[in-house]
Amino acid sequence: MTQIRDDFRSDTVTRPSPGMRRAMAEAEVGDDVFGDDPTVLRLETAVAERLGKPAGVFMTSGTQSNLAALMAHCGRGDEYIAGMDAHCYVHEQGGAAWLGSIQPQPLPHQPDGTLALGDIEAAIKEDDAHLARTRLLALENTFGGRVMPQSWIDDATALARRHNLSTHLDGARVFNAAVAGNIDVADIARPFDTISVCLSKGLGAPIGTVLVGEPALIATARRLRKALGGGLRQVGIIAAAGLYALEHNVTRLADDHANARRLADGFARIPALTVTRPDTNIVWVTVAAEHTKPYTDFLAAEGFGITGGYGRAQQRWVTHLDVGEAAVDRAVAAAERYFSAAT
Ligand SMILES: Cc1ncc(COP(=O)(O)O)c(C=O)c1O
Repeated sequence: MTQIRDDFRSDTVTRPSPGMRRAMAEAEVGDDVFGDDPTVLRLETAVAERLGKPAGVFMTSGTQSNLAALMAHCGRGDEYIAGMDAHCYVHEQGGAAWLGSIQPQPLPHQPDGTLALGDIEAAIKEDDAHLARTRLLALENTFGGRVMPQSWIDDATALARRHNLSTHLDGARVFNAAVAGNIDVADIARPFDTISVCLSKGLGAPIGTVLVGEPALIATARRLRKALGGGLRQVGIIAAAGLYALEHNVTRLADDHANARRLADGFARIPALTVTRPDTNIVWVTVAAEHTKPYTDFLAAEGFGITGGYGRAQQRWVTHLDVGEAAVDRAVAAAERYFSAAT
């Protein structure tokens, strides 16, 4: 198998930069389970402040953070509403159900990725002994790389509050949404009780997510984190990477978005490829059926890493710190080479 040279599989593949590694090596540490790792405390405060929330807790991953949040909001036998393609419903092994005893109520997405307000309202159960208690609305932004409309977020969270539901945002890529929408990330976070923010995706840290929100919920999530195996010790070494990422890698997300547009524009010139114009750093490409397998094999042989491909309707190309303009141009040139020979 050819080694991957240009790795578009995900923004999770980034390697810590020399500056980030230096910050990690020099991090002041303590024992975070005792609550006295100063670098973790600084990171938790920094992320919470950026998101305009009073408290934060460091988590090992987005999956652990979403699960701890869902369990902090919902008790055994309660229910949460989420999109049927939401990461916390479909891509986290259904952990909320089998580890948290929380029933998911998935809803279909509209073509723009939102959930219809009427569907949300209809899914909220009345107080009846036959039914699960609906406790939480969980949304995601960005969703598949799309920036969710702020007016919809405001309406959906207001609807949830009218029905006494709490609200959680899977904001794994919420900084991408803020940079692309030219909006303060705190404005996106404002209507939510909790927000999970990943540092290990476009922000380029090797590990880590911070869950922010109201102090009582964050205290519960911190307790749950220990049961979920996320009570780490001298984890300031990792938190230092997150602080470095916050300082150096937020505004530059605009470069990833520009590279994604450049990639999409290049692919859009090829008739056999159907390309969705990206809002942020994720480009979805549908390949004409007869080319799907040979083109996917060609890309792999040429050293391009992507997800999807053969057997799947779409390819996913993700831009990030470690694939710049030159990698994008190589990908477009390779696509042109393949299709000019094949058609
Ligand atoms: C939207 C979203 N939420 C949550 C996660 C989970 O993050 P992790 O891989 O750190 O568990 C991901 C991972 O790709 C994601 O894309």
